[in-house]
Amino acid sequence: MPLKEIYPGVFYDGENYYTSNANPGKSVYGEKIIRAKGKEYRLWDPKRSKMSAALHRGMTKFPLKRKDNVLYLGAASGTTVSHISEITEKEVYAVEFAEVPFRDLIKLSEERKNIMPILANARVPSRYRHIVPEVDLVYQDIAQRDQLEIFLKNMDFFNAKRGVLMLKARSINVSEKPKNVFQTVADELSKYTKIENNINLKPYEKDHMAFIVKA
Ligand SMILES: C[S@@+](CC[C@H](N)C(=O)[O-])C[C@H]1O[C@@H](n2cnc3c(N)ncnc32)[C@H](O)[C@@H]1O
Repeated sequence: MPLKEIYPGVFYDGENYYTSNANPGKSVYGEKIIRAKGKEYRLWDPKRSKMSAALHRGMTKFPLKRKDNVLYLGAASGTTVSHISEITEKEVYAVEFAEVPFRDLIKLSEERKNIMPILANARVPSRYRHIVPEVDLVYQDIAQRDQLEIFLKNMDFFNAKRGVLMLKARSINVSEKPKNVFQTVADELSKYTKIENNINLKPYEKDHMAFIVKA
C-alpha cells in the first residue's frame, strides 16, 4: 500500500506508521528511513514508542494536532518527542529529570526547531511555568507511583485541552492486578476529564494502558 496520511502528520503504509523526517538523512534511535514522493519518512517503532504502540493497538481518537503546543513529561532521550515534534508545527516542551538522557535530548533539540528541553521534576510544574505557556496537550510517560497525580496537576496547571497518559500499572501497585489498577485510575481520571480512548499496549508493553482524555 502506498504511504497515506491517516492523521495530519502521521503516515501509514498498511503495516507501519511514519512521520516526516525533520532532519533528512538522519535517524534518531536507529529507526528505518524510507523515501516516498521525494520526501523522507522515519518509521515510528511501536516497540520503542508507546504512542506508536497505541496506534497499532487501535487508537481511534488521535489526540495530537498540527497547531498544538505540547507539554511532554518524561521525555528521556527524545525517542517519542522526535516524532511528536514532526507532527506538530508548534512547540514541544520536553521535561525530563534525569541528566544522562537529558544530554541526548539537548542534542536532539539542537537539530530541530521546535523542541524545548527542560531539566525539571514534573511533580513541580511551578518550576517551569516561566518557560511553558498554556498548552493544548499534555503527554505523560512517567513510571512513578504518583503518575496520575502528576498528570492531573500538569493538565490543570497549564490549562491543557487534551491529554495522553501512558500508565504503567506496576509502578502504582506491584501487588495489585493491573486490570484493577487500570479501573481505579479510569474512575479517578473520569472525575476530572473525559476519557476518549483507553488502549492496552500489549504485546508492545506489558501492563500499560494509554488513556486519551479531553479536559
Ligand atoms: C519510560 S521513560 C520515557 C520514554 C519516552 N517517553 C519515550 O517514549 O521516548 C520515563 C522517563 O521519565 C523520567 N521521569 C520519571 N519521573 C520523572 C519526574 N518526576 N519528572 C521528570 N521526569 C521523570 C525518567 O527519568 C525516564 O527518562
